Amino acid sequence: MTISNYYDLDSIRQTVERGGHRGAVGGMWEEVGLLTFRYLVAKGLRPEMKVLDVGCGCLRVGIHLVDFLDSGNYFGIDLSEDLLEAGYQHELVPLGLQTKVPRGNLLCDGEFAFDRLPTDHHFDVAVAQSLFTHLPLNHIRLCMTNLTPVMVPGGSFHATLFHCPDDAEWQRPLLHDRGGITTHPARDPYHYRAADFRHAIHGLPWSVTEPADWEHPRDQAIVTFERLRSAPASARTPNLG
Ligand SMILES: C[S@@+](CC[C@H](N)C(=O)[O-])C[C@H]1O[C@@H](n2cnc3c(N)ncnc32)[C@H](O)[C@@H]1O
Repeated sequence: MTISNYYDLDSIRQTVERGGHRGAVGGMWEEVGLLTFRYLVAKGLRPEMKVLDVGCGCLRVGIHLVDFLDSGNYFGIDLSEDLLEAGYQHELVPLGLQTKVPRGNLLCDGEFAFDRLPTDHHFDVAVAQSLFTHLPLNHIRLCMTNLTPVMVPGGSFHATLFHCPDDAEWQRPLLHDRGGITTHPARDPYHYRAADFRHAIHGLPWSVTEPADWEHPRDQAIVTFERLRSAPASARTPNLG
């Protein structure tokens, strides 16, 4: 069993070659793209900010961000070069937005190597729409670790998840009434408790909100991680000298 179907890059390539890139990232192209974009604006996004779209796919959210942000301020990273290329050629170019995004701002990488992005590495805002829903917890922890040095203190990272409430049995499949998706403890699509995300940032200079319902059509909740100036005192090694 693989981490998720997104790791079957040949299958993703075939879908993209058939013109199915929008479906490959979950469809609901306008609905989810606009929902996410409007959420970020409501949370204070401004055109002069630098934004990192983690697991950006073929730019369902990205096209709105590129349109809104000042030129050069949008960066995306994704496991699939085919999805990135489809997003650039088949979504950005027809909208005339490719002039606002150097092609090098879209990086193919599956290990959260944000230091490979061509920037001075300080993002004000990051977003991950429908990414953690497809990843195991250690990947999320790696993502948070590697995001730490590339975010400005006070920067925010908004990420969606399938939420398993504390009164539900985490170890069993969970049916989400809105959207009708069944999620799982240890296979894609994954669900998480709020405590799992607190665990993922333990010892790192991040805080995280409780999962919130934001009327996502597939019942994904959203959390906001805030980049703190330093690791919380409880996570530091005590000075015994
Ligand atoms: C459901 S799609 C969402 C894409 C985009 N965020 C959107 O909302 O349209 C999930 C995306 O995560 C990407 N992905 C999965 N694992 C990844 C990893 N380890 N690093 C970067 N991207 C990853 C997939 O290639 C895919 O594009």
